[in-house]
Amino acid sequence: MSLTETSPGPSASPPAGSPPSTGAPVWRWTVLAGPMVTAAVLAALAGTSLTAAEAVPAIMLPGPVVEYGLPVVRVLLDLAALAVVGLSLLPKLLGWRDPDRTEPVMRRVRPVAVTAAWIWAVCAFTAVVFHAAELNPGAFPTPGSIASYVNDVGAGQGLVISGACALAYAAVGLLAVRFGEKVPAELRIVVALFGLLPIPVTGHAVDSVWHDPIMISMELHVMGAAAWTGGLAVTVLYLARRRDLLAEVLPRFSRLATVCLLLVSASGVITGLATLALTPGVELPGAILTSSYGLLGVAKVACVAVLIPLAAHIRYRLLPRIERQQATALVGWVAVELTVMGVAYGIAVVLSRAPVG
Ligand code: HEM
Repeated sequence: MSLTETSPGPSASPPAGSPPSTGAPVWRWTVLAGPMVTAAVLAALAGTSLTAAEAVPAIMLPGPVVEYGLPVVRVLLDLAALAVVGLSLLPKLLGWRDPDRTEPVMRRVRPVAVTAAWIWAVCAFTAVVFHAAELNPGAFPTPGSIASYVNDVGAGQGLVISGACALAYAAVGLLAVRFGEKVPAELRIVVALFGLLPIPVTGHAVDSVWHDPIMISMELHVMGAAAWTGGLAVTVLYLARRRDLLAEVLPRFSRLATVCLLLVSASGVITGLATLALTPGVELPGAILTSSYGLLGVAKVACVAVLIPLAAHIRYRLLPRIERQQATALVGWVAVELTVMGVAYGIAVVLSRAPVG
């Protein structure tokens, strides 16, 4: 199957009587999720290396395992969380009118959501251990140092709550595997989004003078990014070969994606500028191009500048043909879009830890 087809042509149709494909084959996972995860991890590592603190005599810095391991674990947490959000949104995007067509897809999606929630939880608790190690450079983290990190630092509590939400999602998700859509999709969406709420506690918003508005702005940012990226990835992973379902779901997702694009861009710019403006000693607009924080923010604006034409191509060129159930190059275009989103995720993790001044 070529990257340029959303479904096989008539000659490649499944034999009469066999059910249409409802899963996401390994090659589509490789093409869509592979470059996104790789781009996210590489961007996090490159950003960490570029913003690394310089060694100061008599001040001990965390070793490379913690310095580079923590951003990698954080970005994997974000990616697992966006997968859970996207997989939870799919039943709403598919609708309920025709369970004979949608249920075979959902039967494949539900166990994957449970696995992603487990990965999210493991990453959240691993991140707590790395953060505790970062606070005590040179010492191996002990149960005592981890407990006092969680007790004393808001970011630790935020990660524990986020991990607990992921475990709660896994429990609800297992019920959904057993009982199907009798477990409301809304419940799964709410639990997944609730688990994202503590993420901004681990960034700069928590120390802001304008704590409440900046915190709300960041929460909208993180939820919008997860719904946008996760919804796009899951729609194409599971429906690219189902032209009938794709023709119904992609227009619905496209409206959601437009809202998310506006929300993520506005909240990102507001949060970034406000964080710079409210930091003592930082002067705007100069700090946008002279501080690591400002430059990483500019890199994220550049990601959005690349994403807009990609999204517009899918929305205005491909969508009309998809609605007529014609073959398009959707998988290839979405693979590129997800890779840029992966870069934005990698930069985000570095940005949330970069010094502002
Ligand atoms: C106009 C473009 C954007 C700007 C200006 C922007 C800015 C920001 C800022 C300032 C933060 C908070 C850092 C802090 O703690 O101070 C942030 C975090 C974040 N951004 Fe963006 N962003 C943009 C686009 C995006 C895009 C396109 C995505 C993904 C598709 C994204 C995903 C995230 C995530 C997931 C976080 C939280 C990271 C974490 O703490 O783990 N952002 N962004």
